Amino acid sequence: MNSNIDFDALLEQAKAASEKAYVPYSGYRVGAALLCSDGSFFTGCNVENASYSLTLCAERVAVVKAVSAGWKDFSAIAIYVEDDELFPPCGACRQVLAEFNPELPVLYANRNESVLTDLGVLLPQAFSLSDR
Ligand code: THU
Repeated sequence: MNSNIDFDALLEQAKAASEKAYVPYSGYRVGAALLCSDGSFFTGCNVENASYSLTLCAERVAVVKAVSAGWKDFSAIAIYVEDDELFPPCGACRQVLAEFNPELPVLYANRNESVLTDLGVLLPQAFSLSDR
């Protein structure tokens, strides 16, 4: 259940992370905060590159920080974009998040509004090798 998750607090962490975004090309600041089952969290921001395709999304930065620190049991993610338009996370990030929790609650927000959904909605039939 989502009811015991403090999404407001998680979103504040995502917003703070967006301030660290390295975005000289798009100017589009994204921050993510990934909540672990014990209440700890990892943040990420997008990190762009002059070789554009090497750009890292905020969500995946948060995932690799968490997994490389030994965490794989995730309860939710909040994603903040410093913008007036609201977009859900990109497909690549949905697939990477689904690796660890295909039903992960996802809050995405911009300056004015937020949407609470989950990966089961955002990425139905995610690719998985677990049934092999
Ligand atoms: N971006 C993210 O950080 N997360 C997403 O889910 C979508 C896109 C970043 C990548 C790039 O730095 C900028 O947003 C514009 O695509």
